[in-house]
Amino acid sequence: MNAREITEKVYLLGAVDWDRELFDSLIPLPDGTSYNAYLIRGSEKTALIDTVEPEFAHVLLGQLEEVEQLDYIIANHAEQDHSGTIPQVLEKFPGAMVVTNARCQGMLIDLLEIPEDKFITVADGETLSLGDKTLEFIYTPWVHWPETISTYLREDKILFSCDFFGSHVATSNLYVSDESRVAEAAKRYYAEIMMPFRAIIAKNLDKIEKYEIDLIAPSHGPIFNKPSYIIDAYRDWVSGSPKNSVVIPFVSMHGSTLILVQRLVSRLVEAGITVHLFNLAVTDIGKLAITLVDAATIVIGTPTVLVGPHPLALNAATLTNALRPKLKYASIIGSYGWGGKAVEQIVSAIPNLKVELLDPVLCKGDRKSTRLNSSHTDISRMPSSA
Ligand code: FEO
Repeated sequence: MNAREITEKVYLLGAVDWDRELFDSLIPLPDGTSYNAYLIRGSEKTALIDTVEPEFAHVLLGQLEEVEQLDYIIANHAEQDHSGTIPQVLEKFPGAMVVTNARCQGMLIDLLEIPEDKFITVADGETLSLGDKTLEFIYTPWVHWPETISTYLREDKILFSCDFFGSHVATSNLYVSDESRVAEAAKRYYAEIMMPFRAIIAKNLDKIEKYEIDLIAPSHGPIFNKPSYIIDAYRDWVSGSPKNSVVIPFVSMHGSTLILVQRLVSRLVEAGITVHLFNLAVTDIGKLAITLVDAATIVIGTPTVLVGPHPLALNAATLTNALRPKLKYASIIGSYGWGGKAVEQIVSAIPNLKVELLDPVLCKGDRKSTRLNSSHTDISRMPSSA
């Protein structure tokens, strides 16, 4: 795709990755993604904000063919899907300087071996004049890594936010055209990379409140021309109150755990509680992550495999622990043949969760068995409102 003008002398560059299926070798990307870079031609200087995944370097370099001079490369974030093509851009424009904060500078030196003398480091709130356009750098840490910044273009009221407000959506549209599709993709990305740091994300939201923002231009997905839509969604996601829903990631090998899961789902539905069910043998764990953004309760269902939980159940527990959602309650249901430590191993995998552990329910053997080795999970103790 060629460069596309957003506002006068401000252009969207970058590449749409229609085929990417996985991010961080972890979370599925059902809608592909994009790596957005932005070119700003000031009356005196020209700046490029972020670059692209190295695999797409040829696309960005092609878009820069018509650019006679590049003065600055703004690095909002050191992760390679945005920084990885900086070395090639520097080769093409040897006079350009990389502008970022000191922490990101260190990372870019470590990751990409960019020489130290190629950097201009900026502090929080510092500005850089391009002549008739002014860039202001806003520290917005942990929108994904600790070094991340956003860049605000004052005259055009555009916030270039990199991963912050980003969505993994491959689209030919410049602006968000399907809000619900983009919101789900943005929530998936938030859940994977920002949810563990939501207290800091809330502070970042407070920080950008004082800026008048007409456009949010992230480095993944389409541009938001109604910024309040995604800002309000983020406010909801980072809020302290979970919603009254129960997430049940489960695995069943011979159907015994499935019976328990089905019984629990029936009781919860009868009680008017929203349930999100994920068969871990086939599920998209990104959808599991999305539901964890709001849920009050998780119940992990697992059979016993080689004396422990099924590895897929343990993986779901480990992922949930890493994402640190605002859960209030957790429990485990499952089956076993002759014993085991499924419950202990899952509990030991979720030390980060500030939850009340509800009594587990384990069924010995036969799926019709009523012999349970612990009290039933008491759904009356799950929150009726959250
Ligand atoms: Fe889109 Fe943290 O990189």
